[in-house]
Amino acid sequence: MARLTVTETAAEAADAAAHRLADAIAAGRGEGKVVHLSLAGGTTPRAAYARLASLVDDWEGVELWLGDERLVPQDDPESNYRMLSESLLDRTGAVAHPVPTEGSAEQAAATYASQLRERVPEGPDGLPVLDFALLGLGEDGHTASLFPEAPTLEVHDEVCVAVHDAPKPPADRITLTLDVLRAARGAAILADGPEKAHPVAMVLEGPNPRVPASLLADGPIELIVDRTAAQELPAEARA
Ligand code: 6PG
Repeated sequence: MARLTVTETAAEAADAAAHRLADAIAAGRGEGKVVHLSLAGGTTPRAAYARLASLVDDWEGVELWLGDERLVPQDDPESNYRMLSESLLDRTGAVAHPVPTEGSAEQAAATYASQLRERVPEGPDGLPVLDFALLGLGEDGHTASLFPEAPTLEVHDEVCVAVHDAPKPPADRITLTLDVLRAARGAAILADGPEKAHPVAMVLEGPNPRVPASLLADGPIELIVDRTAAQELPAEARA
């Protein structure tokens, strides 16, 4: 069942998310393994990545992946890889696997999936097992590029899928599948601001294909939200 962390401010939520990522790195390192993290796109996690840059100074044996990516050039303002570079990669020795966005979304999904399968240990269901997945939350309840009632929600045994009709522009993207996100050893959704209060409440109301992030809520996922994004939750949940 999803765990809930409510912070007073967005900065504190970003700090909590940064600590979850740093903790996942430390835990994986303690097991003597390469640590694989998938990271959210959008704008919310920028502060978390900037905070993470100050928490971790040794990036040896850490591999960063994108939970989703828009089919734009890596230097495009809409690129999640560019956002990650500006907030983390350019400031540290961290290295991320960019999504090859030169070709079609199908080509990008196939290539990224093969890279993940090649480098990330697989679990009992034959899918890569990430050490941690940080996700965002859209106002319509989407996460990564898994949008409400999209056919991508029904895809199984795949690592990445192409998206062509994203209601949030850019329309063409790739995304990790729900199965891969569910298989991660740890995961968190980071959301802040009053515009995320309704989707946060919907995520916790139970699995609903109209709220894709809710389809992860029965697993070991944590919602990290600031007080304004928690305002539609029952008072006892916010305590
Ligand atoms: C993307 C993101 C997406 C994002 C949410 C929230 O590529 O668009 O991965 O899932 O996390 O839409 O976006 P904001 O953080 O900008 O509100």
